Amino acid sequence: MQKKMIIAESPAMKHLLQNLSKIAASHSSIFISGESGTGKEVIAQAIHSLSPRADAPFIKVNCAAVPDTLIESEFFGHERGAFTGAISRRIGRFESADTGTLLLDEISEIPLTLQPKLLRAVQEQEFERVGGRDPIKVNVRFLSTSNRNMQEAIEQNLFREDLYYRLNVVPIYLLPLRERKEDILPLADYFLANHAIQKTLSEEAKKALLEYSWRGNIRELSNLIERALVMSNNEVITPEDLALNRSIPFSAKKTPTLKQLERRHILHTLKELGNNRTRTAKMLGISIRTLRNKLRDYAKL
Ligand SMILES: Nc1ncnc2c1ncn2[C@@H]1O[C@H](COP(=O)(O)OP(=O)(O)OP(=O)(O)O)[C@@H](O)[C@H]1O
Ligand SMILES: [Mg+2]
Repeated sequence: MQKKMIIAESPAMKHLLQNLSKIAASHSSIFISGESGTGKEVIAQAIHSLSPRADAPFIKVNCAAVPDTLIESEFFGHERGAFTGAISRRIGRFESADTGTLLLDEISEIPLTLQPKLLRAVQEQEFERVGGRDPIKVNVRFLSTSNRNMQEAIEQNLFREDLYYRLNVVPIYLLPLRERKEDILPLADYFLANHAIQKTLSEEAKKALLEYSWRGNIRELSNLIERALVMSNNEVITPEDLALNRSIPFSAKKTPTLKQLERRHILHTLKELGNNRTRTAKMLGISIRTLRNKLRDYAKL
């Protein structure tokens, strides 16, 4: 993972950065929550880099991206012949992260069936490879991220409370961008400066950025600046160039296919429900697994 500059002008972000070295120095598990695109991975990377483990491995596993059937082997590895297709021994992420840091990204998406094993691995720093008998000892520091309400996941019996408390020794909550407006223009300037094309923002454009809702948070801001740089015809970017509130034009005049309609409907519902997958699945009358699979397919588009 590439090291990135952290822009922090708002009181909340300044406070976090002031405490980051202290947080990083300990061995405690850290749970970083916040809406999608608020910078959870950036903070996780920074914690590792500031920690005594900085020269040891920093391993990330995206719990939402690994299919349920493969996740145990992804975490803990497997022995040769452990299951069909296990043609050789495989080292899992826990072992790769030994002496370093393991980032459990989107931890809320981990299957309930795997949670007892994960709890043991976090608690005892010990596990077995799939199909293996010998316990393997590791020394790993855990960072987790989630953009879901974990209290709700616990209440719905989707996430074990004991595991959550193990992972959430030091909680970090990243405010949505609309609640730390002081960061908006510095971030915009940073993204502008990072680009080969050199342009500036008009005063009206700055005002528009400050007033916008930023549902996609910093990631949305970054994408928007990039698009504006490409689309604007002048040195100065206007509110029109920013095209706020305008959805991506995609074959607007053609009749959409059922698949496209389904995709739009699902993404719209998800957005309306604040990215809460459990509620979205319920609302749409599909299982959380089906929803997860569909979202995974969309991500590939
Ligand atoms: N404080 C910051 N300064 C500069 N860039 C940032 C900052 N926070 C986030 N970014 C940038 O915004 C984008 C989104 O950040 P990141 O991937 O860490 O978000 P996330 O919270 O993990 O999102 P998701 O929940 O969707 O996985 C990245 O390109 C990242 O580099
Ligand atoms: Mg992330």
